[in-house]
Amino acid sequence: MKQRIWLSPPHLTGKEIVFLQETLDANWVTVVGAQIEKFAAIISNYTQSPYVTLCNSGTSALHLALQVLGVKRGDFILTSTFTFVASVNPIKYLGAIPVLIESEKETWNMSPQFLEESILWCIKQGNKPKAIVLVHLYGMPAQLNKICEIAFKYDIPLIEDAAESLGSTYKKQHLGTFGMLGLHSFNGNKIITTSAGGALFSKNEDFIKKAAFLASQAKEPTSFYEHKYLGYNYQMTTLQAAMGLGQFTQLDNYIALRRRNFDFYKMTLSPFGIKFLEEPSADFYSNRWLTTILIDSKLTKVSPENLKEALELENIESRFLWKPMHTQPLYNEMTYFGDHTSDKLFKSGLCLPSGSSLSEADLKRITSIIINKISN
Ligand SMILES: Cc1ncc(COP(=O)(O)O)c(C=O)c1O
Repeated sequence: MKQRIWLSPPHLTGKEIVFLQETLDANWVTVVGAQIEKFAAIISNYTQSPYVTLCNSGTSALHLALQVLGVKRGDFILTSTFTFVASVNPIKYLGAIPVLIESEKETWNMSPQFLEESILWCIKQGNKPKAIVLVHLYGMPAQLNKICEIAFKYDIPLIEDAAESLGSTYKKQHLGTFGMLGLHSFNGNKIITTSAGGALFSKNEDFIKKAAFLASQAKEPTSFYEHKYLGYNYQMTTLQAAMGLGQFTQLDNYIALRRRNFDFYKMTLSPFGIKFLEEPSADFYSNRWLTTILIDSKLTKVSPENLKEALELENIESRFLWKPMHTQPLYNEMTYFGDHTSDKLFKSGLCLPSGSSLSEADLKRITSIIINKISN
């Protein structure tokens, strides 16, 4: 059997061990410490986001963001339907009600048109939305100009789920820094990883202070343990932050490599009728976390399932696009605004191996299987 090619595996640099060893040598394996401060400062400086708190996952970062904004049971929260379930679950944790918004075709992210329709509907119900959770899927920036304009017009706080898009920018500004709060994930499959982990960031210091307070069991600043609020154990550890310090040294390189993967796939597979998610203009810069393809059923009888199977037979992992939330048994009763764009994307799309550690030989191995399958 040929060596397995994974969809988006961790890419260790060799530098992690130096930071991890320092942490172990210092006998300092806990949830506060220099590694955490340093990694938070690096993320703050890189994204140009003044206040950052590190968490044990992107999911917990979103859960905290919603609470910082005072989201409560029964509140409407508008969110992208075309996403991973972790963009929606924290809304449910709080007893709030997700309202699912369809994607537009250019970026596959939240449609400004359906967003506005949903806001008007919520207002008509007498329940103005408490927040918008905007996802930047696969690293591609959403139509931020229009989304921010709508959020401003109706005075609704914007949270950006930039879990997949560290390093992506819109008009040269980092994703996650347009709204009131933004988050990244450092899960094992992300562009850089701390094994598991996340960051929550904002221009508002009070938001981040409150999130950090809730993330550390909401301990009051008293000499004894006093608790007035319900808190969580959501902090990042020094070992995770040490991993992050090592990983960050390669971030620019990893973005370049993932963009190279995309370019190679596009150049090699476009002649066979395969379509790619393009950056709509020079304003949109994607980290190309995952390269996604669309297969046109008018041009070929080969389906995403067929391609996935053919790749798997050669020990190569690929994955279907995210199954939209309004089609999930968990969420299919939620109010949905849209025209089923993401249902069509789900049926005709596939995520190709996209790790920064892919070699040119790996890319050729993957594309030759796809070309073979399509041509025969
Ligand atoms: C869009 C999106 N949101 C949120 C998350 C949650 O991040 P984490 O796995 O770090 O909890 C992920 C991925 O894992 C994601 O892809």
